[in-house]
This record gives sequence, structure tokens and C-alpha cells, in this order.
Amino acid sequence: MSDQAQALRQLVSSKDDLNLQAPVRHSARIITVSSGKGGVGKSNFTLNFALALKSLGQKVLLFDADIGMANIDVLMGVRPKYSLYHLLKGEKDISEIIELGTHSLPFIAGGSGMADLFTLSEADLNYFTTQIEQISEEMDYIIFDTGAGLSKETLKFIVAADECLVVTTPEPTSITDAYALIKVVHSMEKDVSFQLMVNRVIDEGEASQVADKISLVASRFLDMKIPMLGYMSDDAHVMQAVKKQVPFSIAFPGCSAAQDIYRVAMKYVEVPQFQPRETLSGIKGFMHKWLKRTK
Ligand SMILES: Nc1ncnc2c1ncn2[C@@H]1O[C@H](COP(=O)(O)OP(=O)(O)OP(=O)(O)O)[C@@H](O)[C@H]1O
Ligand SMILES: [Mg+2]
Repeated sequence: MSDQAQALRQLVSSKDDLNLQAPVRHSARIITVSSGKGGVGKSNFTLNFALALKSLGQKVLLFDADIGMANIDVLMGVRPKYSLYHLLKGEKDISEIIELGTHSLPFIAGGSGMADLFTLSEADLNYFTTQIEQISEEMDYIIFDTGAGLSKETLKFIVAADECLVVTTPEPTSITDAYALIKVVHSMEKDVSFQLMVNRVIDEGEASQVADKISLVASRFLDMKIPMLGYMSDDAHVMQAVKKQVPFSIAFPGCSAAQDIYRVAMKYVEVPQFQPRETLSGIKGFMHKWLKRTK
């Protein structure tokens, strides 16, 4: 175990040297979609948000990082042949494990491979890092759909990413759990920026009230600004689409949830997200921070 930890530390420090010398290249923005409470609509939001961004001309890779409960493929009614597992085992390269889902949306199925990420040899990790960096140059966004809550694995993804979109519903338990997630992530890594996505609301007013509650507490106790990215209406079409195994924005493009998601995607693309900062961002920052916590 200590050998592996030593190998990882060496890998991280050699990455430091690389980062200092590497020319600045295009790198995708790394986003995680998370929540405190489960079942609040993360996977449906992530999938339809990714499709909406794609329809706006953005290059998006969706990564199912919900360990053990991966279901982006189920929401699209596709059966992926390969997953991260095959990349980690060196059986396939990254372009081979990227599956095309609805409307040719590129995605990587998580599945059992995710757990193996935590026991990789240095050589395997090096291969994985190089492969991920390579794909990152071709993408505008890499979006991770994570599991709910404060599991160690999920937190590692969130703290390594540039931004976390926190999904909550108006339920008090969902709101307090969302705040708990933000608080824990912030205590681990100050660089992650957050935006709120309020799901299953009656109208914009309800969404703003929910977002205000979280923003206010975060501002007072954590000295953080957490804006609301947007909201999604409570809409029976979402469940119908899940049953049909077709993303709701494709199955029912005129429904209110679909209109909401397009509005959110348009806002996301229009407003510049990157604040230049001292620390590493993009995939290099992600791998750097992620590896630092792999011990
Ligand atoms: N805007 C909405 N309107 C109505 N129902 C919704 C909405 N969003 C989600 N749902 C319902 O909630 C269910 C759970 O959604 P989803 O699987 O996206 O949640 P999740 O946060 O990813 O769950 P988990 O924490 O288990 O990963 C959906 O199958 C759907 O029935
Ligand atoms: Mg989910």
C-alpha cells in the first residue's frame, strides 16, 4: 500500500513539472453534477443539459461517474459495449470506450470500472491520464454525473473539477443536504465554484426562493457566492420519458422541463464561465487534484 502511495506521489510531482513547462492548450471545462440528497434529478438534468449544449454547437463528453448505480445508458435506452473498465485495463483506448448515445452524444459508461480507478498501478494511471488529457483537447465540456451524497469517491470527483452544479428540489431535506455537500467540498478545496440548479419547481419564484436560502447561508457562514444557474419545472413528461428510455428533451421537446433545460444551456454558454485564476484548471487541474487524493 505504501509503495502505491509513494508511486502516486511521484506521479503527482512529475505532473507538477510537466504542468510548469507545458504550453497552454485548449482544455475542456470539467463540470460535476451532484446533490446532497439522492433522486433529485441529477442524471436527467445532466443528460438533457449535455444534449442541449450539444445542440448549441458545444462539444460535450458525458461521463457517468455514479459508481455502482450508473444509469445514463438506461435513460438513453442504449447498451454500452465498453466502459471505463476497458480503458483502465489497457484493453481499449479512450476513443474506443466513448459510446454514442441519443443524437450521437458521446458518453463514457461508468459501471464497475470506476471502483478500479482507486487501485491502479502507476503505469495504468499514467496511461489513463494521457488518454483523458488527449480527449480533453477536443472537447468544450466534460460533464460528470456523480452519485448523491458525501461518499469519498464522489467527493474526489467534485473537488478535482472546475465547477460543481448542485441539484436540489424545494424539499427542505434536499436543501439542507445540498448545503451540507457544498460545505464539505469547500472545506476540502476552495477552488471549486458552485452553481445551483433547482429542480421540480412550480415556477421561477419558487426556484429563486430555494436558491436564496442556500446562497444566503453560504454567504454568511462560508463567505461564498453561489448563484442559481437555473431551474427545471416539475413536469410529468420527465417520468414518462424515463419509462420510454428517451431523454425528455428529445421525447417531448415542447414540454416545460425541456424548455427550461434549453434556457439553462443557453445561459450557460452565453455567460463566460472561466475566471482566470492562479491554480490549475481544466483536465490537468482535475487529474492533478484527483491524483493528490488517491492514496
Ligand atoms: N423535473 C422533474 N419533474 C418530474 N419528475 C422528475 C423531474 N426530475 C426528476 N424527476 C423524477 O425523479 C426521478 C429520479 O431522477 P434522476 O434519476 O435523474 O435522479 P438522480 O438525482 O440522478 O438520482 P440518484 O441520486 O439515484 O442518482 C426520475 O426518474 C423522475 O421520475
Ligand atoms: Mg443519478
